[in-house]
Amino acid sequence: MANRIKIAIDGPAAAGKSTIAKITAEKLGYLYIDTGAMYRALTHKALVNDINTGDGEELERLLAQTDIVLLPSPQGQAVLVDGQDVTEDIRSQLVTASVSAIAAHNGVRRLMVDKQRQLAERAGVVMDGRDIGTAVLPDAELKIFMTASVEERAMRRHIENEKRGFTTSLEQLKAEISERDRADSERDISPLRQAEDAVLIDTTAMSIEEAADKISELAEKRISL
Ligand code: DC
Repeated sequence: MANRIKIAIDGPAAAGKSTIAKITAEKLGYLYIDTGAMYRALTHKALVNDINTGDGEELERLLAQTDIVLLPSPQGQAVLVDGQDVTEDIRSQLVTASVSAIAAHNGVRRLMVDKQRQLAERAGVVMDGRDIGTAVLPDAELKIFMTASVEERAMRRHIENEKRGFTTSLEQLKAEISERDRADSERDISPLRQAEDAVLIDTTAMSIEEAADKISELAEKRISL
């Protein structure tokens, strides 16, 4: 049995996936891949180029000409689009509000999934997103479906935003997160859903460390199988 495995972490917006995936990857010495950042990177470029978020063909063409690089950094992960650092830009309100529409296009997802599989070719990866266990890496040795209540997720985003220096209303965050959950779960292609063989982790009442420990524990078990 392999001693370096693939770990897929899926779940709704702001459930703590990225933070916990990053810590798990560090603990195991694995590569961390944030696939949401890839959809955000394309969304940012589409907005800059004034491309309609409903125009799947145009977006697919744009993605085919776009170089997206994820680099480990002290803050987690830097995102470069065509050589330009967009790490901060891809977290803007506008990108967040537009990304689900862009991620719903079949052609866009096909190209993204190809890129993501290439990134995961080397074993020893933790990849987070919405369709990793179901579509991108169906053969991942460990699949996690991470969730938390909408209230808790909105509160975490609120605190995170305050730390980054801007205030957002909790009610508005709750509405935005619920809307993104709906869009990501109801889309036709690779909707957000728990893979049959995924372990469900509800982080509502868990600390980041507890969740990361739980995943590392599950990973160690799979590695030693
Ligand atoms: O994880 P995130 O909030 O950064 O993801 C941004 C959006 O990208 C999310 O609303 C849905 C989409 N996404 C996706 O469709 N498939 C993935 N594997 C990752 C993200």
